[in-house]
This record gives sequence, C-alpha cells and structure tokens, in this order.
Amino acid sequence: MLMDTYGRVATDLRVSLTDRCNLRCTYCMPEEGLQWLSRQDLLTDDEIVRLVGIAVTRLGITEVRFTGGEPLLRPGLVSIVERCAALAPRPRMSLTTNGIGLARTARALQEAGLDRVNVSLDTLRPDVFRQLTRRKRHQDVLDGLAAARAAGLDPVKVNTVLMPGLNDDEAPDLLAWAVDHGYELRFIEQMPLDAQHGWRREEMITAADILASLRTRFTLTPEEGRGSAPAERWLVDGGPARVGVIASVTRPFCSACDRTRLTADGQVRTCLFATEETDLRGALRSGADDEEIARRWQRAMWGKKAGSGLDDPAFLQPRRPMSAIGG
Ligand code: GTP
Ligand code: 5AD
Ligand code: SF4
Repeated sequence: MLMDTYGRVATDLRVSLTDRCNLRCTYCMPEEGLQWLSRQDLLTDDEIVRLVGIAVTRLGITEVRFTGGEPLLRPGLVSIVERCAALAPRPRMSLTTNGIGLARTARALQEAGLDRVNVSLDTLRPDVFRQLTRRKRHQDVLDGLAAARAAGLDPVKVNTVLMPGLNDDEAPDLLAWAVDHGYELRFIEQMPLDAQHGWRREEMITAADILASLRTRFTLTPEEGRGSAPAERWLVDGGPARVGVIASVTRPFCSACDRTRLTADGQVRTCLFATEETDLRGALRSGADDEEIARRWQRAMWGKKAGSGLDDPAFLQPRRPMSAIGG
C-alpha cells in the first residue's frame, strides 16, 4: 500500500511516457520547445512495464493513466498498454493526450486493453487553436476524438483550459458541442506549471467565472459523490450529460488525493507540485529487486505533503514544468 502521513492511500498511478510534444500550447511551453530528455534518460518499455507491475501487484495501484508530454509520440505505447493489461490484477487504464494521431491508433489501443481516454481541446475555432497551440492541427484532434468514440473507448473526456482574451468566451459553445457529441467536458483552472513561469493568479479564469459563463445558457445541478476525482461535476439541463470543473487553484482537492506519479525518466513524484523526487530508474539499473523498489516507492509517498502549497505566500513553482512531470 502507498500511504502518506495524512492517511491518504494512493491507488492511481500516472505514468509520463515522454516529455516531448507536437504542440506548443502557450500556457505550457515556448515556441522553441524545451530541453528534452535524452534517450538514455527515458525509462525503456521494459522498465515501465516492470514498475507498473510492481505498483499493481505489490502497492495496491488499481488505475494507471499514461500521460506525457504527448504519450502518442511514444513508439511503444500500444505494446506497453498490452503488457500492462496482462498484469494480475489487471489495472484500469486510461490515456491523457492532445489527440493528434489518435485517429490512427484508437482502435489498436482499445484492443490492447485501454479503457478510456481524455483529450485536450481548448477551442472549436481553428484560428484560435492555431494561436493557442502554435500548430495547425485542429482537425486532427477532432478526428482523434471521433475515432476514440468509434473504437469504444468510454467515456471520452475533453479537457479545456480557458485563457483570457483567447477562448474564454467559448465555454457555452464548447459545452453545447460536447453534449451533442457525447463527450464529457471538463474545464481546468490554469496552474503555475508552465515552462515560462508566466502564470498570474489575477489573470486566471476561475471556476466561478466558468460556471457563471455556462449558466448564461444552461441549468447546472451539482452532482453528489465526487470521491477522489479532481473534477467537480454538474448535470447539464437535468442530465444525463455532465460538465466538470477541475479547480486546482480556487478549490483544491488535495485532502482527497489518491495519486502517485512516475516521470518519463523514472522519478517518483508524490504530487504535481512536489519539490522533491525519488529516483527509481537508478535503483532499477543498479539491480534492485522488486521488493526494494516497492519499499523505495512507499518511503517516497510517506513524505507526501498535505497540499500543493499554492496558497502559501512562499510558494515556489516546481523545477520541472507540467510537460516534464506528466499532466
Ligand atoms: P479522470 O480520472 O478521467 O477524471 O482524470 P483526471 O481529470 O484526473 O486526469 P487528466 O489527465 O485528464 O487531467 C485533467 C487535469 O487535472 C490536468 O490539468 C491535470 O494536470 C490535472 N490534474 C491531474 N492530476 C492532478 C493532481 O494530482 N493535482 C492537481 N492539482 N491537478 C491534477
Ligand atoms: N494548468 C492547467 N492545465 C494544464 N494543462 C497543461 N498545462 C496546464 C496548466 N499549466 C492541461 C492540458 C491537458 C491536461 C493534461 O493538462 O491542456 O488538458
Ligand atoms: Fe503539448 Fe499538452 Fe503542453 Fe499542449 S499542454 S504543449 S498538448 S504537453
């Protein structure tokens, strides 16, 4: 079991498969990209499967999410999913992706054992997409979403970050579109995890702003029973459609957190905002056995802090940006 000193138990593992990305979202990274991890730094497919295996068989992990950077850029993704699906007990598996290339791989992923997918899409307008991501790939994302549904991945969720002056007027349109297509839309408050350190709390679109904007067109009824999910959810016009808001900044959910993370270079992070990491790659490569690795992972989680520290006046952004941590 992965427990911390506050009694929280991690059952959800987020694995970053690469720090690279084929988009350049302005709230995430600069135009020129970042200093990427080298091939030797990255965990190999075998190392990833071994660590997921340890997490599932010895540490009580039941949910595994693959993230990035952009996880579809990892050549071994389908085989990693297939091998993780063969573990006993079989973990539930999901993917968080920008959707580019999903049209080609959704079926293979589903057949390999992937259960569901979350796709990032911030706008319905191709020109705004281009401004926000600095790439002309809007249609690829829409095609990826459609393919995910057609492949039977369920649910298909859409993650949206609203940026002032760019897409903050689009919330109701996005919701109408998502309801129409059967996607579960969630709005995410922007967090200070960008590589450029340009986040300003005053400029962030808050959960309250988002709800006010949606209520100009829809009736929203709060849904009970959130559990450990970061999204608070509302029924849209009486349901069954739902909309979520992930308000990490104004309504943090740290006290219910059930997550542990593994970076693409094999470091355990107890939190998105953790300032320390625990090296498992080094242990793997120096011949540690599964029991020793499990013990290191448990020790790391025991040091998990109570919260993100965002409200602390002395808050410092983590050394690595979100794309290198895993979203
Ligand atoms: P579901 O299980 O499908 O609800 O996934 P999710 O919402 O946890 O994951 P997803 O990868 O779609 O992430 C959505 C947003 O939540 C992203 O902006 C993540 O960075 C953010 N997020 C994920 N995990 C955490 C976390 O532990 N803390 C905080 N503050 N935000 C998180
Ligand atoms: N704050 C909030 N969400 C972010 N994402 C990327 N950077 C940030 C940030 N600084 C979102 C992406 C994607 C998800 C994994 O995280 O848009 O939907
Ligand atoms: Fe890529 Fe996601 Fe960062 Fe956009 S937010 S640049 S899709 S890693």
